[in-house]
Amino acid sequence: MEIVSILLYIILFLSTLLSLLKKQKNGIHFKKFKLPPGSMGWPYVGETLQLYSQDPNIFFLTKQKRYGEIFKTHILGCPCVMLASPEAARFVLVTHAHLFKPTYPKSKERLIGPHALFFHRGGYHARLRRLVQNSLAPQTIKKLIPDIQGIAVSTLESWAASGQGVNTFYEMKKLSFDVGILSIFGHMERGFREMLEENYRKVDKGYNSFPTNIPGTAYQQAILARKRLNRILGEIISSRKEKRLLEKDMLGHFLSFKDENDEKLSDEQIADNIIGVLFAAQDTTASVITWVLKFLHDDPQLLEAVKAEQMAIYDTNNGGKMPLTWEQTRSMPLTHRVVMESLRMASIISFTFREAVVDVEYKGYLIPKGWKVMPLFRNIHHNPEFFPNPQEFDPSRFEVAPRANTFMPFGNGVHACPGNELAKLEALILIHHLVTNFRWEVVSSESGIQYGPFPVPQQGLPARFWKEPKQSRQ
Ligand code: HEM
Repeated sequence: MEIVSILLYIILFLSTLLSLLKKQKNGIHFKKFKLPPGSMGWPYVGETLQLYSQDPNIFFLTKQKRYGEIFKTHILGCPCVMLASPEAARFVLVTHAHLFKPTYPKSKERLIGPHALFFHRGGYHARLRRLVQNSLAPQTIKKLIPDIQGIAVSTLESWAASGQGVNTFYEMKKLSFDVGILSIFGHMERGFREMLEENYRKVDKGYNSFPTNIPGTAYQQAILARKRLNRILGEIISSRKEKRLLEKDMLGHFLSFKDENDEKLSDEQIADNIIGVLFAAQDTTASVITWVLKFLHDDPQLLEAVKAEQMAIYDTNNGGKMPLTWEQTRSMPLTHRVVMESLRMASIISFTFREAVVDVEYKGYLIPKGWKVMPLFRNIHHNPEFFPNPQEFDPSRFEVAPRANTFMPFGNGVHACPGNELAKLEALILIHHLVTNFRWEVVSSESGIQYGPFPVPQQGLPARFWKEPKQSRQ
Protein backbone atom coordinates (compact mmCIF):
# COMPACT_ATOMS: atom_id res chain seq x y z
CA MET A 1 0.00 0.00 0.00
CA GLU A 2 2.84 2.26 1.07
CA ILE A 3 4.64 1.61 -2.27
CA VAL A 4 1.46 2.27 -4.27
CA SER A 5 0.96 5.70 -2.67
CA ILE A 6 4.65 6.59 -3.20
CA LEU A 7 4.29 5.60 -6.84
CA LEU A 8 1.12 7.69 -7.11
CA TYR A 9 2.96 10.68 -5.61
CA ILE A 10 5.81 10.23 -8.08
CA ILE A 11 3.37 10.04 -11.02
CA LEU A 12 1.53 13.13 -9.76
CA PHE A 13 4.81 15.02 -9.30
CA LEU A 14 6.08 14.08 -12.77
CA SER A 15 2.82 14.98 -14.53
CA THR A 16 2.72 18.38 -12.74
CA LEU A 17 6.34 18.98 -13.77
CA LEU A 18 5.58 17.96 -17.36
CA SER A 19 2.56 20.24 -17.59
CA LEU A 20 4.65 23.13 -16.18
CA LEU A 21 7.36 22.49 -18.75
CA LYS A 22 4.75 22.30 -21.52
CA LYS A 23 3.23 25.59 -20.43
CA GLN A 24 6.65 27.13 -20.41
CA LYS A 25 7.36 25.77 -23.91
CA ASN A 26 4.08 27.28 -25.09
CA GLY A 27 5.32 30.63 -23.93
CA ILE A 28 3.54 31.18 -20.59
CA HIS A 29 6.89 32.21 -19.03
CA PHE A 30 6.99 35.09 -21.55
CA LYS A 31 4.20 36.77 -19.61
CA LYS A 32 6.96 38.58 -17.71
CA PHE A 33 7.69 40.56 -20.89
CA LYS A 34 5.66 43.62 -21.73
CA LEU A 35 3.73 44.30 -24.91
CA PRO A 36 5.35 46.75 -27.35
CA PRO A 37 4.35 50.43 -27.00
CA GLY A 38 1.46 51.73 -29.12
CA SER A 39 -2.25 52.25 -29.06
CA MET A 40 -5.00 49.67 -29.62
CA GLY A 41 -7.61 52.32 -30.51
CA TRP A 42 -11.34 51.80 -29.95
CA PRO A 43 -12.91 48.53 -28.80
CA TYR A 44 -13.57 46.19 -31.80
CA VAL A 45 -12.61 48.67 -34.56
CA GLY A 46 -9.19 49.44 -33.09
CA GLU A 47 -7.36 51.87 -35.38
CA THR A 48 -8.79 50.59 -38.66
CA LEU A 49 -10.52 53.92 -39.42
CA GLN A 50 -7.33 55.91 -38.78
CA LEU A 51 -5.43 53.58 -41.14
CA TYR A 52 -7.96 53.77 -43.97
CA SER A 53 -8.86 57.47 -43.68
CA GLN A 54 -5.34 58.59 -44.60
CA ASP A 55 -2.33 57.59 -46.66
CA PRO A 56 -1.30 54.30 -44.97
CA ASN A 57 2.33 55.35 -45.11
CA ILE A 58 1.61 58.41 -43.00
CA PHE A 59 -0.20 56.19 -40.48
CA PHE A 60 2.83 53.88 -40.18
CA LEU A 61 5.42 56.69 -40.23
CA THR A 62 3.63 58.70 -37.53
CA LYS A 63 3.53 55.63 -35.32
CA GLN A 64 7.16 54.81 -35.98
CA LYS A 65 8.19 58.37 -35.04
CA ARG A 66 6.16 58.20 -31.85
CA TYR A 67 6.87 54.69 -30.61
CA GLY A 68 10.04 53.54 -32.35
CA GLU A 69 10.70 50.52 -34.51
CA ILE A 70 8.33 48.09 -32.86
CA PHE A 71 4.79 49.08 -31.90
CA LYS A 72 1.39 47.54 -31.41
CA THR A 73 -1.95 48.48 -32.93
CA HIS A 74 -5.32 46.89 -33.71
CA ILE A 75 -6.57 46.83 -37.29
CA LEU A 76 -9.21 44.88 -39.24
CA GLY A 77 -10.28 43.12 -36.05
CA CYS A 78 -6.79 41.85 -35.20
CA PRO A 79 -4.19 42.87 -32.65
CA CYS A 80 -0.94 43.51 -34.53
CA VAL A 81 2.71 44.18 -33.88
CA MET A 82 4.40 46.29 -36.54
CA LEU A 83 8.12 46.07 -37.15
CA ALA A 84 10.00 48.83 -38.93
CA SER A 85 13.63 47.76 -38.54
CA PRO A 86 15.69 45.48 -40.82
CA GLU A 87 16.68 43.31 -37.84
CA ALA A 88 13.07 42.79 -36.77
CA ALA A 89 11.97 41.96 -40.34
CA ARG A 90 14.82 39.43 -40.57
CA PHE A 91 13.81 37.93 -37.20
CA VAL A 92 10.25 37.30 -38.41
CA LEU A 93 10.94 36.31 -42.01
CA VAL A 94 14.27 34.50 -41.79
CA THR A 95 15.87 33.53 -38.49
CA HIS A 96 12.65 32.82 -36.53
CA ALA A 97 10.29 32.17 -39.44
CA HIS A 98 9.19 28.90 -37.79
CA LEU A 99 7.49 30.92 -35.02
CA PHE A 100 5.22 32.68 -37.54
CA LYS A 101 2.80 31.51 -40.20
CA PRO A 102 1.47 33.28 -43.29
CA THR A 103 -2.03 34.63 -42.75
CA TYR A 104 -4.65 35.84 -45.24
CA PRO A 105 -8.37 36.54 -44.88
CA LYS A 106 -10.46 33.43 -45.67
CA SER A 107 -12.39 35.37 -48.33
CA LYS A 108 -9.15 35.93 -50.28
CA GLU A 109 -7.97 32.35 -49.78
CA ARG A 110 -11.27 31.15 -51.29
CA LEU A 111 -10.65 33.16 -54.45
CA ILE A 112 -7.04 32.14 -55.01
CA GLY A 113 -7.53 28.55 -53.87
CA PRO A 114 -6.53 27.11 -50.47
CA HIS A 115 -3.71 24.94 -51.88
CA ALA A 116 -1.70 27.90 -53.23
CA LEU A 117 1.81 27.75 -51.75
CA PHE A 118 1.78 31.13 -50.02
CA PHE A 119 -0.92 30.04 -47.55
CA HIS A 120 1.27 27.17 -46.33
CA ARG A 121 4.43 26.37 -44.44
CA GLY A 122 6.40 23.21 -43.70
CA GLY A 123 6.82 20.30 -46.11
CA TYR A 124 3.98 21.11 -48.53
CA HIS A 125 5.17 24.70 -48.92
CA ALA A 126 8.80 23.65 -49.41
CA ARG A 127 7.86 21.12 -52.13
CA LEU A 128 5.66 23.54 -54.05
CA ARG A 129 8.18 26.32 -53.68
CA ARG A 130 10.95 24.19 -55.15
CA LEU A 131 8.78 23.47 -58.20
CA VAL A 132 7.85 27.14 -58.71
CA GLN A 133 11.44 28.27 -58.11
CA ASN A 134 12.84 25.76 -60.62
CA SER A 135 10.42 26.90 -63.30
CA LEU A 136 11.35 30.55 -62.70
CA ALA A 137 15.11 30.03 -62.38
CA PRO A 138 17.42 32.05 -64.68
CA GLN A 139 18.33 29.00 -66.83
CA THR A 140 14.59 28.50 -67.54
CA ILE A 141 13.43 32.08 -68.00
CA LYS A 142 16.32 33.02 -70.29
CA LYS A 143 14.65 30.78 -72.89
CA LEU A 144 11.53 32.94 -72.65
CA ILE A 145 13.30 36.13 -73.82
CA PRO A 146 12.22 35.95 -77.50
CA ASP A 147 8.59 35.41 -76.50
CA ILE A 148 8.65 38.14 -73.84
CA GLN A 149 10.11 40.46 -76.48
CA GLY A 150 7.31 39.50 -78.85
CA ILE A 151 4.71 40.35 -76.19
CA ALA A 152 6.44 43.66 -75.29
CA VAL A 153 6.82 44.81 -78.90
CA SER A 154 3.27 43.96 -79.95
CA THR A 155 1.90 45.68 -76.83
CA LEU A 156 3.89 48.87 -77.53
CA GLU A 157 2.93 48.79 -81.22
CA SER A 158 -0.75 48.53 -80.32
CA TRP A 159 -0.60 51.54 -77.98
CA ALA A 160 1.18 53.62 -80.60
CA ALA A 161 -1.22 52.51 -83.35
CA SER A 162 -4.27 53.44 -81.26
CA GLY A 163 -3.16 57.09 -81.27
CA GLN A 164 -5.13 57.46 -78.04
CA GLY A 165 -4.03 57.81 -74.47
CA VAL A 166 -3.94 54.55 -72.55
CA ASN A 167 -4.14 53.70 -68.86
CA THR A 168 -0.54 52.55 -68.47
CA PHE A 169 -1.12 50.41 -65.37
CA TYR A 170 -4.12 48.67 -66.89
CA GLU A 171 -2.17 47.90 -70.07
CA MET A 172 0.85 46.70 -68.10
CA LYS A 173 -1.46 44.31 -66.27
CA LYS A 174 -2.33 42.71 -69.61
CA LEU A 175 1.35 42.46 -70.46
CA SER A 176 2.32 40.85 -67.15
CA PHE A 177 -0.66 38.49 -67.41
CA ASP A 178 0.61 37.33 -70.82
CA VAL A 179 4.12 36.83 -69.45
CA GLY A 180 2.66 34.93 -66.47
CA ILE A 181 0.72 32.64 -68.85
CA LEU A 182 3.89 32.10 -70.89
CA SER A 183 5.94 31.08 -67.87
CA ILE A 184 3.26 28.69 -66.61
CA PHE A 185 1.99 27.09 -69.83
CA GLY A 186 4.53 27.95 -72.53
CA HIS A 187 2.62 28.47 -75.78
CA MET A 188 -1.06 28.05 -75.22
CA GLU A 189 -4.06 27.64 -77.50
CA ARG A 190 -5.76 30.97 -78.10
CA GLY A 191 -9.20 29.68 -77.04
CA PHE A 192 -7.94 28.52 -73.63
CA ARG A 193 -5.98 31.74 -73.19
CA GLU A 194 -9.03 33.91 -73.81
CA MET A 195 -11.22 31.89 -71.44
CA LEU A 196 -8.54 32.10 -68.75
CA GLU A 197 -8.15 35.84 -69.21
CA GLU A 198 -11.88 36.57 -69.15
CA ASN A 199 -12.50 34.64 -65.95
CA TYR A 200 -9.28 35.67 -64.25
CA ARG A 201 -10.24 39.32 -64.80
CA LYS A 202 -13.47 38.72 -62.83
CA VAL A 203 -11.55 37.07 -59.98
CA ASP A 204 -9.15 40.01 -59.95
CA LYS A 205 -12.04 42.49 -59.84
CA GLY A 206 -13.71 40.72 -56.93
CA TYR A 207 -10.52 40.22 -54.93
CA ASN A 208 -10.61 43.63 -53.28
CA SER A 209 -14.38 43.95 -53.08
CA PHE A 210 -16.47 43.38 -49.96
CA PRO A 211 -16.80 39.60 -49.43
CA THR A 212 -20.48 38.68 -49.40
CA ASN A 213 -22.66 35.82 -50.65
CA ILE A 214 -25.20 38.22 -52.18
CA PRO A 215 -25.71 37.25 -55.85
CA GLY A 216 -24.61 39.83 -58.41
CA THR A 217 -21.93 41.41 -56.22
CA ALA A 218 -18.34 41.61 -57.50
CA TYR A 219 -17.24 39.07 -54.88
CA GLN A 220 -19.90 36.53 -55.88
CA GLN A 221 -19.10 37.04 -59.56
CA ALA A 222 -15.47 36.37 -58.70
CA ILE A 223 -16.35 33.14 -56.86
CA LEU A 224 -18.32 31.93 -59.89
CA ALA A 225 -15.48 32.87 -62.25
CA ARG A 226 -13.04 31.01 -59.98
CA LYS A 227 -15.16 27.85 -60.29
CA ARG A 228 -15.11 28.23 -64.07
CA LEU A 229 -11.33 28.65 -63.94
CA ASN A 230 -11.09 25.29 -62.17
CA ARG A 231 -12.98 23.65 -65.02
CA ILE A 232 -10.85 25.34 -67.70
CA LEU A 233 -7.62 24.45 -65.91
CA GLY A 234 -8.90 20.88 -65.47
CA GLU A 235 -9.35 20.63 -69.26
CA ILE A 236 -5.86 22.03 -69.92
CA ILE A 237 -4.34 19.58 -67.43
CA SER A 238 -6.21 16.61 -68.95
CA SER A 239 -5.15 17.51 -72.45
CA ARG A 240 -1.51 17.77 -71.33
CA LYS A 241 -1.75 14.41 -69.58
CA GLU A 242 -3.26 12.81 -72.71
CA LYS A 243 -0.51 14.15 -74.92
CA ARG A 244 2.09 12.84 -72.45
CA LEU A 245 4.37 15.74 -73.33
CA LEU A 246 7.23 16.43 -70.95
CA GLU A 247 7.17 20.22 -71.11
CA LYS A 248 9.70 22.20 -69.09
CA ASP A 249 7.26 25.00 -68.15
CA MET A 250 5.71 25.37 -64.69
CA LEU A 251 2.70 23.18 -65.50
CA GLY A 252 5.15 20.51 -66.73
CA HIS A 253 7.00 20.72 -63.39
CA PHE A 254 3.70 20.39 -61.47
CA LEU A 255 2.57 17.42 -63.55
CA SER A 256 5.78 15.43 -63.31
CA PHE A 257 6.17 15.95 -59.55
CA LYS A 258 6.02 12.96 -57.17
CA ASP A 259 6.76 13.20 -53.44
CA GLU A 260 8.77 10.67 -51.39
CA ASN A 261 5.64 8.46 -51.12
CA ASP A 262 5.16 8.55 -54.89
CA GLU A 263 2.14 10.87 -54.47
CA LYS A 264 1.39 13.26 -57.32
CA LEU A 265 -0.18 16.69 -57.00
CA SER A 266 -3.97 16.69 -57.42
CA ASP A 267 -5.55 18.74 -60.23
CA GLU A 268 -6.96 21.05 -57.56
CA GLN A 269 -3.54 21.66 -56.01
CA ILE A 270 -2.13 22.42 -59.45
CA ALA A 271 -5.02 24.77 -60.32
CA ASP A 272 -4.73 26.71 -57.03
CA ASN A 273 -1.01 27.17 -57.53
CA ILE A 274 -1.44 28.34 -61.12
CA ILE A 275 -3.95 30.98 -60.03
CA GLY A 276 -1.66 31.85 -57.09
CA VAL A 277 1.33 32.47 -59.35
CA LEU A 278 -0.73 34.51 -61.84
CA PHE A 279 -2.06 36.55 -58.97
CA ALA A 280 1.39 37.11 -57.40
CA ALA A 281 2.86 38.07 -60.78
CA GLN A 282 0.34 40.42 -62.30
CA ASP A 283 -0.34 43.63 -60.36
CA THR A 284 3.08 43.67 -58.74
CA THR A 285 5.05 43.63 -62.00
CA ALA A 286 2.57 45.95 -63.76
CA SER A 287 2.79 48.44 -60.93
CA VAL A 288 6.61 48.54 -60.89
CA ILE A 289 6.88 48.99 -64.68
CA THR A 290 4.28 51.78 -64.52
CA TRP A 291 6.42 53.53 -61.88
CA VAL A 292 9.56 53.10 -64.03
CA LEU A 293 7.79 54.89 -66.88
CA LYS A 294 6.68 57.69 -64.56
CA PHE A 295 10.15 58.22 -63.07
CA LEU A 296 11.82 58.20 -66.50
CA HIS A 297 9.22 60.58 -67.89
CA ASP A 298 9.77 62.99 -64.99
CA ASP A 299 13.56 63.07 -65.47
CA PRO A 300 14.46 63.76 -69.16
CA GLN A 301 18.20 63.69 -68.42
CA LEU A 302 17.99 60.26 -66.86
CA LEU A 303 15.79 59.08 -69.74
CA GLU A 304 18.45 60.21 -72.24
CA ALA A 305 21.15 58.33 -70.30
CA VAL A 306 19.02 55.15 -70.22
CA LYS A 307 18.30 55.58 -73.90
CA ALA A 308 22.03 55.89 -74.67
CA GLU A 309 22.68 52.64 -72.78
CA GLN A 310 19.91 50.84 -74.64
CA MET A 311 20.82 52.31 -78.07
CA ALA A 312 24.32 50.85 -77.72
CA ILE A 313 22.73 47.39 -77.38
CA TYR A 314 20.24 48.14 -80.15
CA ASP A 315 23.10 49.05 -82.51
CA THR A 316 25.05 45.91 -81.58
CA ASN A 317 21.92 43.97 -82.46
CA ASN A 318 21.96 45.37 -85.97
CA GLY A 319 19.41 48.08 -85.38
CA GLY A 320 17.23 45.85 -83.22
CA LYS A 321 17.00 43.14 -85.93
CA MET A 322 18.63 40.56 -83.68
CA PRO A 323 16.86 39.61 -80.45
CA LEU A 324 18.15 40.65 -77.04
CA THR A 325 20.30 38.03 -75.36
CA TRP A 326 20.26 37.03 -71.69
CA GLU A 327 23.82 38.40 -71.34
CA GLN A 328 22.68 41.78 -72.70
CA THR A 329 19.84 41.94 -70.17
CA ARG A 330 22.49 41.29 -67.47
CA SER A 331 24.65 44.18 -68.60
CA MET A 332 22.36 47.18 -68.54
CA PRO A 333 23.79 48.73 -65.34
CA LEU A 334 21.98 52.07 -65.44
CA THR A 335 18.63 50.62 -66.51
CA HIS A 336 18.97 47.96 -63.83
CA ARG A 337 19.59 50.65 -61.20
CA VAL A 338 16.50 52.52 -62.42
CA VAL A 339 14.42 49.37 -61.85
CA MET A 340 15.92 48.86 -58.38
CA GLU A 341 15.30 52.48 -57.39
CA SER A 342 11.73 52.25 -58.70
CA LEU A 343 11.23 49.14 -56.57
CA ARG A 344 12.52 51.05 -53.53
CA MET A 345 10.60 54.26 -54.15
CA ALA A 346 7.30 52.56 -54.97
CA SER A 347 7.69 49.71 -52.43
CA ILE A 348 4.80 47.91 -54.10
CA ILE A 349 4.47 45.43 -51.25
CA SER A 350 4.52 47.99 -48.45
CA PHE A 351 4.32 45.30 -45.77
CA THR A 352 3.43 41.67 -45.29
CA PHE A 353 1.43 39.75 -42.68
CA ARG A 354 2.42 36.84 -40.49
CA GLU A 355 0.81 35.40 -37.35
CA ALA A 356 2.70 34.31 -34.22
CA VAL A 357 2.11 30.56 -33.67
CA VAL A 358 3.43 30.73 -30.06
CA ASP A 359 4.18 33.55 -27.63
CA VAL A 360 7.37 35.12 -28.96
CA GLU A 361 9.87 37.39 -27.23
CA TYR A 362 11.62 40.01 -29.33
CA LYS A 363 14.07 42.47 -27.74
CA GLY A 364 12.31 42.25 -24.37
CA TYR A 365 8.82 42.65 -25.86
CA LEU A 366 6.09 40.02 -25.99
CA ILE A 367 4.41 39.16 -29.28
CA PRO A 368 1.48 37.08 -28.04
CA LYS A 369 0.41 33.90 -29.84
CA GLY A 370 -2.28 34.64 -32.44
CA TRP A 371 -1.26 38.29 -32.94
CA LYS A 372 -0.52 39.46 -36.45
CA VAL A 373 3.01 40.63 -37.18
CA MET A 374 3.76 43.05 -39.98
CA PRO A 375 7.29 43.76 -41.23
CA LEU A 376 7.00 47.25 -42.79
CA PHE A 377 9.12 47.09 -45.96
CA ARG A 378 8.21 50.59 -47.11
CA ASN A 379 9.25 52.20 -43.82
CA ILE A 380 12.62 50.46 -44.06
CA HIS A 381 13.06 51.47 -47.73
CA HIS A 382 12.23 55.07 -46.84
CA ASN A 383 14.37 55.33 -43.74
CA PRO A 384 16.99 58.10 -44.26
CA GLU A 385 19.46 56.14 -42.14
CA PHE A 386 19.65 53.47 -44.88
CA PHE A 387 18.66 55.55 -47.94
CA PRO A 388 19.64 59.26 -47.59
CA ASN A 389 17.01 61.67 -49.00
CA PRO A 390 14.61 58.77 -49.35
CA GLN A 391 11.97 60.78 -51.27
CA GLU A 392 14.44 61.56 -54.05
CA PHE A 393 14.54 59.24 -57.06
CA ASP A 394 18.24 58.53 -57.32
CA PRO A 395 19.32 55.33 -59.13
CA SER A 396 22.98 56.09 -58.36
CA ARG A 397 22.40 55.01 -54.76
CA PHE A 398 22.44 51.42 -56.10
CA GLU A 399 26.00 51.84 -57.39
CA VAL A 400 26.89 50.30 -54.04
CA ALA A 401 24.92 47.40 -52.59
CA PRO A 402 22.42 48.48 -49.89
CA ARG A 403 23.14 47.48 -46.28
CA ALA A 404 22.08 43.88 -45.57
CA ASN A 405 18.33 43.43 -45.00
CA THR A 406 17.46 47.07 -45.76
CA PHE A 407 16.21 46.39 -49.31
CA MET A 408 13.46 43.78 -49.52
CA PRO A 409 11.13 44.60 -52.42
CA PHE A 410 10.78 40.86 -52.99
CA GLY A 411 10.52 39.95 -49.30
CA ASN A 412 13.01 37.77 -47.47
CA GLY A 413 13.39 34.21 -46.17
CA VAL A 414 11.26 31.14 -46.84
CA HIS A 415 8.47 33.03 -48.63
CA ALA A 416 10.67 35.47 -50.59
CA CYS A 417 9.52 36.04 -54.16
CA PRO A 418 10.52 33.23 -56.54
CA GLY A 419 9.45 35.42 -59.50
CA ASN A 420 11.87 38.29 -58.87
CA GLU A 421 14.21 37.48 -61.79
CA LEU A 422 11.29 37.16 -64.20
CA ALA A 423 9.79 40.46 -63.01
CA LYS A 424 13.11 42.29 -63.52
CA LEU A 425 13.68 40.63 -66.90
CA GLU A 426 10.22 41.68 -68.06
CA ALA A 427 10.86 45.28 -66.98
CA LEU A 428 14.28 45.43 -68.70
CA ILE A 429 12.95 44.03 -71.98
CA LEU A 430 10.01 46.43 -71.99
CA ILE A 431 12.27 49.42 -71.26
CA HIS A 432 14.71 48.39 -74.03
CA HIS A 433 12.01 48.37 -76.70
CA LEU A 434 10.24 51.41 -75.32
CA VAL A 435 13.22 53.78 -75.26
CA THR A 436 14.81 52.57 -78.50
CA ASN A 437 11.67 52.79 -80.64
CA PHE A 438 9.00 54.85 -78.91
CA ARG A 439 8.31 58.06 -77.07
CA TRP A 440 5.58 58.81 -74.57
CA GLU A 441 4.01 61.62 -72.67
CA VAL A 442 1.91 61.52 -69.55
CA VAL A 443 -1.48 63.04 -70.31
CA SER A 444 -2.69 63.73 -66.80
CA SER A 445 -1.65 66.58 -64.57
CA GLU A 446 -2.61 64.67 -61.41
CA SER A 447 0.31 63.56 -59.33
CA GLY A 448 0.36 61.38 -56.24
CA ILE A 449 -0.27 57.77 -55.40
CA GLN A 450 -3.42 55.71 -55.72
CA TYR A 451 -3.80 52.48 -53.75
CA GLY A 452 -5.64 49.66 -55.41
CA PRO A 453 -4.30 48.12 -53.09
CA PHE A 454 -0.84 48.30 -54.66
CA PRO A 455 0.51 51.83 -54.99
CA VAL A 456 0.26 53.11 -58.58
CA PRO A 457 0.53 56.63 -60.02
CA GLN A 458 -2.82 58.47 -59.99
CA GLN A 459 -5.37 57.08 -62.49
CA GLY A 460 -2.89 54.41 -63.55
CA LEU A 461 -0.67 56.96 -65.35
CA PRO A 462 -2.68 57.93 -68.45
CA ALA A 463 -0.13 58.28 -71.27
CA ARG A 464 0.13 58.57 -75.04
CA PHE A 465 2.73 56.54 -76.91
CA TRP A 466 4.03 57.00 -80.43
CA LYS A 467 6.69 55.48 -82.60
CA GLU A 468 9.86 57.52 -82.81
CA PRO A 469 10.61 58.49 -86.45
CA LYS A 470 13.80 56.69 -87.53
CA GLN A 471 15.63 59.82 -88.81
CA SER A 472 15.51 61.52 -85.39
CA ARG A 473 17.83 58.83 -84.01
CA GLN A 474 20.85 59.96 -86.02
C1 HEM B 1 7.95 43.48 -59.26
C2 HEM B 1 7.21 42.42 -59.13
C3 HEM B 1 7.06 41.61 -57.87
C4 HEM B 1 7.16 42.01 -56.56
C5 HEM B 1 7.46 43.41 -56.03
C6 HEM B 1 6.93 40.83 -55.74
C7 HEM B 1 6.99 40.82 -54.36
C8 HEM B 1 6.82 39.68 -53.59
C9 HEM B 1 6.97 39.63 -52.16
C10 HEM B 1 7.34 40.82 -51.26
C11 HEM B 1 6.73 38.36 -51.77
C12 HEM B 1 6.81 37.82 -50.34
C13 HEM B 1 5.51 38.03 -49.61
C14 HEM B 1 5.58 37.58 -48.16
O1 HEM B 1 6.65 37.29 -47.63
O2 HEM B 1 4.51 37.55 -47.55
C15 HEM B 1 6.39 37.59 -52.95
C16 HEM B 1 6.05 36.25 -52.94
C17 HEM B 1 5.73 35.55 -54.09
N1 HEM B 1 5.83 35.98 -55.39
FE1 HEM B 1 6.36 37.83 -55.99
N2 HEM B 1 6.68 39.76 -56.57
C18 HEM B 1 6.76 40.19 -57.88
C19 HEM B 1 6.61 39.42 -59.02
C20 HEM B 1 6.35 38.08 -59.04
C21 HEM B 1 6.29 37.26 -60.23
C22 HEM B 1 6.55 37.76 -61.65
C23 HEM B 1 5.94 35.99 -59.83
C24 HEM B 1 5.75 34.74 -60.63
C25 HEM B 1 5.81 34.62 -61.92
C26 HEM B 1 5.82 36.02 -58.38
C27 HEM B 1 5.47 34.95 -57.60
C28 HEM B 1 5.47 34.94 -56.22
C29 HEM B 1 5.08 33.79 -55.42
C30 HEM B 1 4.59 32.45 -55.95
C31 HEM B 1 5.24 34.18 -54.08
C32 HEM B 1 4.97 33.31 -52.84
C33 HEM B 1 6.24 32.61 -52.40
C34 HEM B 1 6.08 31.76 -51.16
O3 HEM B 1 5.12 31.92 -50.40
O4 HEM B 1 6.96 30.93 -50.95
N3 HEM B 1 6.08 37.30 -57.94
N4 HEM B 1 6.48 38.41 -54.05
